[in-house]
Amino acid sequence: MKYEHLFKPIKLAGVVFKNRIFSSPTGLRYTFVNGTLMPTAPQYYGRKAMGGAAAVAVGECIVDSLYGKTTEYKIEMDNPASVHGLSLLTDSVSRYGAICVAELSHGGAGANRYPGAPDVIYGPVDYTYFDGRQVKEMPEEIIERTIQKYADAALMAKKCGFGMVNVHAGHGWMMHQFLNPKLNTRKDKWGGAPIENRARITVECLKAIRKAVGPKFPIEVRISGSECYEGGYDIEEGIAFAKQIEEYCDLIHVSVGSHEVESLFPITHPSLFLDEGCNVKYAAEVKKHVKTPVAAIGALCDPELLEEIIASGKADVVEMARALIADPDLPIKAQTGREDEINKCMRCLTCFSDLVRNGHFSCACNPEIGREEEALYFPKPAQLKKVLVVGGGIGGMEAAITAAQRGHTVTLCEKSSELGGTLNCERNVPFKFRLDDYIERQKRTIEKLGIDVRLNTEVTPENAASFGADAVIAALGAVPVKPPIPGIDGANVISAENAYTEPDRVGKNAVILGAGLVGVELAVYLAMLGRNVKIVEMMDAINDGGNFQHMKGVKVQLDKYKIEISLSTRAAEITADGVKCVKDGAEVFFPADTVIYAVGQRALQDEAMALYSAAPEFYQLGDCTAPSNIKNAVATAYVTARNIGRI
Ligand SMILES: Cc1cc2nc3c(=O)[nH]c(=O)nc-3n(C[C@H](O)[C@H](O)[C@H](O)COP(=O)(O)O)c2cc1C
Repeated sequence: MKYEHLFKPIKLAGVVFKNRIFSSPTGLRYTFVNGTLMPTAPQYYGRKAMGGAAAVAVGECIVDSLYGKTTEYKIEMDNPASVHGLSLLTDSVSRYGAICVAELSHGGAGANRYPGAPDVIYGPVDYTYFDGRQVKEMPEEIIERTIQKYADAALMAKKCGFGMVNVHAGHGWMMHQFLNPKLNTRKDKWGGAPIENRARITVECLKAIRKAVGPKFPIEVRISGSECYEGGYDIEEGIAFAKQIEEYCDLIHVSVGSHEVESLFPITHPSLFLDEGCNVKYAAEVKKHVKTPVAAIGALCDPELLEEIIASGKADVVEMARALIADPDLPIKAQTGREDEINKCMRCLTCFSDLVRNGHFSCACNPEIGREEEALYFPKPAQLKKVLVVGGGIGGMEAAITAAQRGHTVTLCEKSSELGGTLNCERNVPFKFRLDDYIERQKRTIEKLGIDVRLNTEVTPENAASFGADAVIAALGAVPVKPPIPGIDGANVISAENAYTEPDRVGKNAVILGAGLVGVELAVYLAMLGRNVKIVEMMDAINDGGNFQHMKGVKVQLDKYKIEISLSTRAAEITADGVKCVKDGAEVFFPADTVIYAVGQRALQDEAMALYSAAPEFYQLGDCTAPSNIKNAVATAYVTARNIGRI
């Protein structure tokens, strides 16, 4: 067996987990405002169990809805109305032989920050939270109440069919706030210098939980092994905490960071600029000092790496959040030797941005997540058709694959000499290596499905009908906009696409016009290659394209490489030495050897529309309808192709 350590069952508190792959807590917004579950929640978590994970954790189930709730959309473990939904959810997971896990959480100083929330906010001490709100020191009777609430919540979890609880003592929530040596300066037994005091609330909660649920019910504790910033606590403190709690739990899950510091978000949820498995070292360090099993987390998705972590003894369990959103079938695919079919997470954080903004799970490269039941039970085609897909970019490839998987006969025409579309230009960028992986995987799938791929083939209104298709899907994409600035045709000016494919053409000092996602990511790439980069942007803010969680990681890199961005600045003329700009009515000059434009894309709408009469059915999707992102191209391609021949 290839991954024998990864797929070796493990027993925690006498309960058997069928392998070492646990789905890390994801949560946030699968409830109505009264805390009861939306019907989509059991499907989302159940789908991960179907894919072979041994445990599937439901994020942030709040133990005290009066003092511990962080947003209005949280599961309330002290609300009897939650029972029916949670019981259905646990059943959806455990019927696949996976253990359903409830992450028990209390926001402490981070609670009650939503409209209409109760006024009182309790933390370890009186202080001003980072958002400016006043926090009151949690009095003894509220501490006692909180401990009882944890015990009650764990019992409720057990009654609802959860097979384990995960006590959240990291990421800056209540238990972590009490642990924090700088913050928790209380003079009583719940704080101050001794670690026993700062860990006491966690330990007391764990004891109360054990009493409530009995010995044969595993308890996992999620900690931040290190806060990972100067001024925060380090791994020594994390180890000391682990030693305090190990006697009272069955698994110590070592994450990192604290959400009170924005720049830590891309470390807790490793951004694509960090290495895969970058946080495993914290788990490995804790493991050296405790006897209780340890779980590692962070930027994991490669079965070889997962196996190595377990085999080398760095951890006993590996947990993943985003990798199982990108591909819930990762465990089964690894187990059955189909690793090359795994849709490996690009860590673009579309999932987290969408979840916070729109309240539901999505993924750039998995159009089924968040719509699991629809995907599983969508009707088979009533008619099989001949489908012509025009354009072999991200949208075109996905449309061709989906149509072929549903039994249609597909021809995929691409004007250029390779599949992949505009994103091919980023394929050598180190932090985009999983994008490259994704494109390669799509190509492999296209080959396996026997799709008739015709490269160097332009489909025009004149020749389109000759393909004899029943349905034409135009996925022509977009082309870079060349801004009409004097000097734009100079020898020192290139497009962002060219800068990516031929970085040697970029001189020592570069100015990028445009601080959209393309401009800022390109700036980071060029800075990594040793160029001095400045960005000039007409608007008064960076355009994150809606992906504000990814942008947190980009900002860390912009700071690291000291990349200056001049906002509200209009480029007026490009000369041989740089760019003349206007800012606040005054002229400013930015010297540069190379000027790069990254001011957006023009949709090939007219070219796509011109194909409308090429077949009885005609569809347009992706960037040729409006330049957008991978998620929108993949999602529209998937549903469009799936709908062909439905009736
Ligand atoms: C969409 C999303 C939702 C998350 N929700 C929670 C949550 O409710 N509770 C929690 O402790 N962590 C939550 N996390 C953090 C993950 O459990 C995990 O620690 C983090 O994403 C790093 O692991 P990964 O690299 O495998 O994604 C969430 C992460 C994502 C991407």
